[in-house]
Amino acid sequence: VSLRDLVRSNLRDAEAYDPGPTLAELAARYNVPNLAKLNWNENLFGPLPGLEDALTAEADHLWMYPEQAYTAFRRAIADGLGVEPEMVVPGHGIQALLLAAMQVFLNPGDTVVTAQPTYGLYAQAVRAVDGRLVRVPVDDRLQLDLEGMAASARETRAKMVIVCDPNNPTGQLIDPTDWALFLKALPDGCVVLADEAYIDFSERSRRDLRIADVRAGAPVVLLRSFSKLYGLAGLRLGVALVHPDLAPCFDVVQEPFNVNRAALAAGRATLAAAAAVERRRREVVAARGHLEEALGARGFRVWPSATNFVLTALTQSGNGGATLLDDARFVAELVRRGFVPRAGHEFGMRGHLRITVAPIDVMDGVVAAMEDVRVALTNARA
Ligand SMILES: Cc1ncc(COP(=O)(O)O)c(C=O)c1O
Repeated sequence: VSLRDLVRSNLRDAEAYDPGPTLAELAARYNVPNLAKLNWNENLFGPLPGLEDALTAEADHLWMYPEQAYTAFRRAIADGLGVEPEMVVPGHGIQALLLAAMQVFLNPGDTVVTAQPTYGLYAQAVRAVDGRLVRVPVDDRLQLDLEGMAASARETRAKMVIVCDPNNPTGQLIDPTDWALFLKALPDGCVVLADEAYIDFSERSRRDLRIADVRAGAPVVLLRSFSKLYGLAGLRLGVALVHPDLAPCFDVVQEPFNVNRAALAAGRATLAAAAAVERRRREVVAARGHLEEALGARGFRVWPSATNFVLTALTQSGNGGATLLDDARFVAELVRRGFVPRAGHEFGMRGHLRITVAPIDVMDGVVAAMEDVRVALTNARA
């Protein structure tokens, strides 16, 4: 037998996530020393205050397992959100918590419904647990078709629906009324996994929308991340917010104390800097508005984003947006000019780009470069 024959049958021809070339590889390939990393929706506004001190202080405690650090972190999250610590399940990022949630709820062969396009990792996670994925396309305004997703869940007797709100890569929020109707329309026994990686860029009242559902015992699990507004993508930290009855099941499938002390200390430091976090949120929202306006003014179509990225269509100059330019070539030309956005074909939207929001001077730079590239590629086609 080949070694590959020894692995579970659903993994035999599986391919791992391909993160693409590193910044260093791109810099060498295109001979551009400084690239603006606008492809992964990381925080490009610098670290929050208190982080460095917290990490330095934690160095003295790294010999210990993070038992008390877990307790302190869960309490800090619970206090901030007005929930009980028993509802908080830490994990090393939403990526880990997604897989944990699937291990908690899914049996092999179970159906999971999600949107198209949406965050790419859902498909890989469903595959890893030998589930069956059904995708429901977004509507013509690129909003999640919640009615269609609930109908699909009923037809396929789905065990789980994954809702990314706001959705990556489309950036838009679900309307609260539509959310309430969606919950009612789901079949019995179906769990909703709500990926709220970008919810921190919304106002407080909107951020809290689903916490009441979790508390009331609705079959809803929320996933939150410290990788986006809080700027800790490199430490890998996130939480699931679940009903207290479910938390012990997550503790069974996740290894004990899987989040390291440095991440927990950094998470606590950022939670303690609430005023700075709110200032940062507003700064990102302002830079996002600036980017949306600048793109719109140059005739690139944009969709209203509630996140730290903007989706835009690569309309040619002077043809009224009838045809879209090739996003792979467009990105290659932008990299030559010092900017690395995400090409739409990678998430199923040819002719589009997803651009991470950065400080305003970077946004002005990328828009000017986009205009330049558009002229070059439109002329090349003519
Ligand atoms: C929708 C969505 N969920 C989850 C993640 C990953 O979150 P984490 O860094 O907490 O694993 C991302 C990262 O880009 C994302 O876009």
